[in-house]
Amino acid sequence: MKVFVTGGIGYIGSHTVVELQQNGFEVVIADNLCNSNIKVLDGIEQITGVRPEFEKIDLADAEKVQDFFSRHRDVVAVIHFAALKAVGESVQKPLEYYKNNLNSLMNVITAMREFGVKNLVFSSSCTVYGQADILPVTEQTPRKQAESPYGNTKAMCEDIMRDVAKVEKEMNLLALRYFNPIGAHPSSCIGELPNGVPNNLIPYLTQTVAGIREQLSVFGDDYNTPDGSAIRDYIDVVDLARAHVVAIRRLLDGKNKANYEYFNIGTGTGLSVLELIHAFERATGEKVNYKIVGRRAGDIEKVWADTTLANRELGWKASVPIEETLANVWKWQKHLMNK
Ligand code: NAD
Ligand code: UFG
Repeated sequence: MKVFVTGGIGYIGSHTVVELQQNGFEVVIADNLCNSNIKVLDGIEQITGVRPEFEKIDLADAEKVQDFFSRHRDVVAVIHFAALKAVGESVQKPLEYYKNNLNSLMNVITAMREFGVKNLVFSSSCTVYGQADILPVTEQTPRKQAESPYGNTKAMCEDIMRDVAKVEKEMNLLALRYFNPIGAHPSSCIGELPNGVPNNLIPYLTQTVAGIREQLSVFGDDYNTPDGSAIRDYIDVVDLARAHVVAIRRLLDGKNKANYEYFNIGTGTGLSVLELIHAFERATGEKVNYKIVGRRAGDIEKVWADTTLANRELGWKASVPIEETLANVWKWQKHLMNK
């Protein structure tokens, strides 16, 4: 069975392609490479022995998407990763973010409807919860107004899926709300490839330990948390990739309880920035050079997932211990430097 993976050359997409192939699915990828490198295909092939089909396509171009679906009539499901994802950049370039992220999703769903492809899994984010009043967040936790255009595209894409599902009864749409994805494939054949100076904690941390950055800034130690630094739910990228495989199976097996569903995908455990740094030091034996600085604008204080629904309904649970995840990202960083 063939799955169409949009944005499959990217960080989470590439790990998901590997898991799909290892679980017997055929994969075709479309990506415009705006935030990824075509060499990732080599990494995927090294792990699985199979080079996935690939087409360079901008999914924001409706005609190209129609043409793609017209030529791939054997696709049974779609996983839609393709999106722009830099929170800060989205504040500077809101139109680019709305155009890219909303049009891509609408083009994909429109073509699915036209060509009779029924099943879609979409990459959403815990950013839709904002700073929740009660933790951990469940799927019933009310969404809050997004802090950034990027976050707003996720909320709007969810709304589009909900509204389409009401009228397109044959379609099965499922959103996964990722918490904080980190890590790399244990083979070190694929991992995160941040462009320029990383915004996210883990790539900044590993680049600091590698000597590429001078010092890691810890944004705030005056939050209302046990050690004062902000808390997140860090989910291993391979665990996250596996969640997509079970989500696709759920749709293909007709096990979904509604034709629009959404699930939290996290570990269920919150870790502070300082706890994460110390876990990295324990896992790798490396020292992290960091300093405490002021809070970063727009950051929330704490969030972690209640994953009961995903555990029960998808039969999925995060399983990679944080030390293993951190050892893998360090191995990946060293691999990048030796290339
Ligand atoms: P990524 O940038 O590594 O991957 C996204 C891929 O989509 C890239 O390869 C990019 O080239 C491609 N792409 C973007 N716009 C495109 C377009 N118009 N046409 C074709 N290809 C296009 O990002 P990622 O971290 O792998 O994220 C994947 C998805 O998960 C995104 O939707 C992102 O918003 C979402 N997400 C990511 C995180 C995170 O922290 N990484 C958290 C929550 C949700
Ligand atoms: N942090 C630092 N120093 C850094 C970078 C980050 O202290 O150099 C802190 C942040 O303040 C935050 C935590 O580390 O408390 C995690 O920050 P990230 O930037 O790694 O991740 P965010 O939680 O801000 O956001 C990420 C993605 C969003 C996504 C969200 C939820 O960037 O796109 O996870 O999935 F929406």
